[in-house]
Amino acid sequence: MKDGREIGGQSGMGQGAGETAYERLFTPWKLGKFEIRNRICVPPLVVFNWGDESGRVSEKSVRHYEALTRGGAGLVIQEATSVSRGGRITCTMLGIWEDGQIEGLSRLARVFHDADMPAILQLSHAGILAEREADRVAPVPYRCVADGAERVGRGLSAEELVRLEQDFIDGARRAIQAGYDGVELHASHGYLLSELLNGRMNQRTDAYAASDRLFFLHVMEGIRRIAPPDFLIGVRLGAFEPALEDGLENAAWFESHGADFIDAFIGCDWAMDLEKPDTFPFNESIYGAKRIRERVSVPVFAVSGISTGRGAEEVLKATGADMAVIGRGSLVNENWGNDVRAGRNPGRCQECARCMWKVDADRCPGHLLLEKERAGQTE
Ligand SMILES: Cc1cc2nc3c(=O)[nH]c(=O)nc-3n(C[C@H](O)[C@H](O)[C@H](O)COP(=O)(O)O)c2cc1C
Ligand code: SF4
Repeated sequence: MKDGREIGGQSGMGQGAGETAYERLFTPWKLGKFEIRNRICVPPLVVFNWGDESGRVSEKSVRHYEALTRGGAGLVIQEATSVSRGGRITCTMLGIWEDGQIEGLSRLARVFHDADMPAILQLSHAGILAEREADRVAPVPYRCVADGAERVGRGLSAEELVRLEQDFIDGARRAIQAGYDGVELHASHGYLLSELLNGRMNQRTDAYAASDRLFFLHVMEGIRRIAPPDFLIGVRLGAFEPALEDGLENAAWFESHGADFIDAFIGCDWAMDLEKPDTFPFNESIYGAKRIRERVSVPVFAVSGISTGRGAEEVLKATGADMAVIGRGSLVNENWGNDVRAGRNPGRCQECARCMWKVDADRCPGHLLLEKERAGQTE
């Protein structure tokens, strides 16, 4: 979310003086049966050009997750991984739509376990935002403008929705076979699950209407049926889908249907009403997390624009959230958590109009600047 509301920027919250400067950020806690060593979470972050059309795990991905899982976060959630070939956000993203992909994914699951953290991947279907025009679908025929481009989604039939439910359940089955401890359903950003929850986009009048959440009932029940008892199911959930009251209802529904955590974000860019009181010091995404935190008892994660340890600490305190989520900050610096803990400058995302990780990760200006600053310090 490019919003110019970076939390912890030059205007105030600089880096802390090491771990002792924090009351909450470095306190351990439990997610299900898993010990989580601190409150720093790396969210799902697709790297766009490291794989190929097979959706299989590349050597570069393995190295990337080795670095991220050793970078000092308590939890790293693996990037959006497509449950079907037609559901790809980008044709080079990771996939979990066929059994041949399990072997590569099991390498990644081991990377998480070697770093002593649960392995959780994000199950995703791009819906109207699929890269290939022919794949674009929505709950009803729909047209929107996303990232400046018009997208047209074909309306899905009830039979297709039943098959898509199975794609999510099969994705979870493959994750279990690959050794993962949990999955996160990607129900945000205007992708298929976000569209299904959003009453402004999902104008169906059958059992798949937004308010009935039938798709989610089938997916949650289907995954629980095949999963081991302690398997984690989290949801990346738009707090404004389309309005805050709906997001809060959705969060409560997921909790009552067995979700283990809510990873809060905003919602569908083109079909949501953002809101927050003027007095709330952070952006709407963080406000949404605070409100969800007040509504549910399961752990809630807060994200968007957090750039320093001080900022993360203040967000945790202001929202009561269980995790401060560091997205682009972790792309700038995979070692973000360790650096904050040691009182070092963790670097800063430059809030590029288009994140270079969607184009060419090697050209991330925040990362290049940090490398330059560090080289300058050692000269
Ligand atoms: C390159 C890139 C890839 C992303 N991929 C995903 C993804 O796979 N799944 C997801 O839920 N969010 C994804 N996001 C959103 C981030 O997880 C995060 O919520 C967002 O960047 C805001 O947090 P930040 O301000 O700390 O970066 C992505 C963001 C970026 C910049
Ligand atoms: S390319 Fe790097 S500096 Fe630019 S938005 Fe992405 S993470 Fe931030």
